[in-house]
Amino acid sequence: PLMGDLFGLTELAERLQHLLGIPHVIVVQGNADHSPWVKEELGRVGARMLKQYIREGDIVAVTGGTSIASVAHHLSPAPSFRGVQFVPARGGLGERVELQANTLASAMAAKTGSSYRLLHVPDRLHPEALQTLMKEPQVQDVLSLLQHSRIVIHGIGDALAMAKRRNYSEAELAELQEAGAVSEAFGYYFNAAGETVHRMPTIGLQLEDVQRAETVLSIAGGESKAKAILSFARQSCQNVLITDEGAALAILSER
Ligand code: G3H
Repeated sequence: PLMGDLFGLTELAERLQHLLGIPHVIVVQGNADHSPWVKEELGRVGARMLKQYIREGDIVAVTGGTSIASVAHHLSPAPSFRGVQFVPARGGLGERVELQANTLASAMAAKTGSSYRLLHVPDRLHPEALQTLMKEPQVQDVLSLLQHSRIVIHGIGDALAMAKRRNYSEAELAELQEAGAVSEAFGYYFNAAGETVHRMPTIGLQLEDVQRAETVLSIAGGESKAKAILSFARQSCQNVLITDEGAALAILSER
């Protein structure tokens, strides 16, 4: 892409930092929508950033999705992972098991020689069933760990793409659209202004937990996620965004 070549990846990152108000932005080459190796690159850089920010004994909240799966794939042991606990941000969100937060938390622990917890809560439960599960000591334990996460590492999705992936019905999709949902992260759906318009009926990481965390690493690339990245950035709770040229150029041309 001409503009990318003209400005270079560092300059693209600096412009995004300004525009989105995120202190640390890294732009990798390419467009994840078109080339699978770009997601690998997002994961490689994500793993490097996590290694850079992690401290011994940290609690790390982890979401699901292909971008975070790529981070897990690229992690390797380091002394600072001592005593670290990887905790899934959510139970099942209707994703394939390979992409669920539980799976990725355990994969990250295995890769780094640290430990993990599991959240055995299916998504889309009846409110009564949710209430009952919430009282379970095991579940409460994990929820209290999530409240004390120092690091959150998560993907950002296009709202409708994610809802379809999670098998929302036509009526539910129409409702989301009506509500103006643009982005999705950790089971929350946000509008263009970054306001929550819908939440998955499950338990786990709360937006307040994310806002309280010291380091929030977002990993999302591909020009199809440009609007979603902009929407989530309005939350202003991120410190680090790892994205690609495709998304960066589309975000900059949005404005
Ligand atoms: O919640 C957002 C999704 O986790 C993004 O998933 O990384 O597969 O695009 P993805």
